[in-house]
Amino acid sequence: MATNVNAEALKESPIPDAIEKHAASKQTVDPYNVQGEVGEDGVVKAIDYNKLIEEFGTKKIDQALLDRLERVTGKKPHRFLRRGIVFSHRDLELILDRYEKGEPFYLYTGRGPSSDSVHVGHTIPFEFTKWLQDTFDVPLVIMMTDDEKYLFSDKRTIEEVEGYCSNNAKDIIAVGFDPNKTFIFSDFQYMGGAFYKNVVRLSKHITLNQARAIFGFNDSTNIGRIHFGSIQGASSWASSFPHIFGEDESKTVAIPCLIPCAIDQDPYFRMTRDVSARLKYKNSNISYAKPALIHSRFLDALQGPGTKMSASVDESAIFMRDTPNQIKNKINKYAFSGGKVTVEEHREKGGDTNVDVAYQYLRFFLEDDEELEKIRVAYESGEMLTGDLKAICIKELQTYVAAFQERRAKVDDEAVKLFMTTRPLKWNGNPRAPVVVPQVQNADGEAAAEGGDGKLTKNQLKKLEKQKQIEAKKAQKAKEKEEKDKAAAQP
Ligand code: TRP
Repeated sequence: MATNVNAEALKESPIPDAIEKHAASKQTVDPYNVQGEVGEDGVVKAIDYNKLIEEFGTKKIDQALLDRLERVTGKKPHRFLRRGIVFSHRDLELILDRYEKGEPFYLYTGRGPSSDSVHVGHTIPFEFTKWLQDTFDVPLVIMMTDDEKYLFSDKRTIEEVEGYCSNNAKDIIAVGFDPNKTFIFSDFQYMGGAFYKNVVRLSKHITLNQARAIFGFNDSTNIGRIHFGSIQGASSWASSFPHIFGEDESKTVAIPCLIPCAIDQDPYFRMTRDVSARLKYKNSNISYAKPALIHSRFLDALQGPGTKMSASVDESAIFMRDTPNQIKNKINKYAFSGGKVTVEEHREKGGDTNVDVAYQYLRFFLEDDEELEKIRVAYESGEMLTGDLKAICIKELQTYVAAFQERRAKVDDEAVKLFMTTRPLKWNGNPRAPVVVPQVQNADGEAAAEGGDGKLTKNQLKKLEKQKQIEAKKAQKAKEKEEKDKAAAQP
């Protein structure tokens, strides 16, 4: 369990302090607090992501896994993957196994609507989620935790978070999700039915002791906060969405999700995975699928490593509503520089790209690997000066934000209503899978959801399953042979 939770932080609004000096303390990363280690000098250090992998017990995404991802999807991994920005996972291999076999899974992510000020850091997990959706062609559910943002703040009212919720939904839609494959829901609105049953099912299997150990709650924590984990966790089960996956729980409980999220959200799902492993459908031996995870790191605040952009500190972040001029001024004025104090010294010794915010932002936003490498070499050798580096960064971010604003302007209330309507979704999955997963027909003849209303008999399903396995084996053998042949053909 997480050992580095900061119980004190839970008493207050969970908005991190981006730019203040702190008393010496160790690194803290949990859903309510993100803070790099603070040395005796009060200076915040960069977050040590390798240490998080160790502490949380997740797995590093290594080159072998990236190679497999590329092989299986036929697509070059997203730049976040190539550059270690999406750096850790749980059971991603199992999801790839399923994808290879054409077996169903879905994507689940979310956002806490805590303000109208969405910044570039917020868009990172969503950009990546969109890539996953485009790549795998699977359903995506996006949870808006309006309840969480009310429970975890001393100030916010319910009406306030409701307002943020619909505005944030527009921001999320503007990232470019496919309405045919995406269901956005607010906890306040969607609670009930199958979802609520799963919330209760999950909560019954978590004791107060466990919640305290995982999240650092104490005797003064309001009980809504203590219970909230079962809400965030319950969306990891496909049976919470019968309109997407069908009513037959004997099938839906076995459909796993892949959760793209920032690493601070891991404790919720570690907890959900523990419970999933213990749960069976009714008294059968059908297990609840454990959610798989893929974790991203944070985008540093303009002030540099060890900090995180904050929606409430204007000079800490580039906001999605910033004008080109604001972006330029903020980067020029605040972006922490890894350059040397004088031009002479910089030319001689070169800049430090590890701490340089403009360079780090380019790692997130500049697509071209070669160009990025050229910039790194030029800056580290002292050939490129801080001003030039910042100019490149300003241009990239202006382009990124302007493109977002253009899409955002087109998102109206109608679009929000569409994405947030409880309705069947349509998706195709892996076009190269040996046998297409059976899609159940709607009354109007349209394909609805996999394994849904039981129109396929058990025997048919069994047969299909068997056939699928045989095909998968064949495909695997053919692939192995092809690879062998290829290897043999090489000089
Ligand atoms: N708790 C998250 C937040 O505060 C919102 C959230 C809900 C989420 N479910 C999720 C984020 C799943 C990532 C994945 O922003």
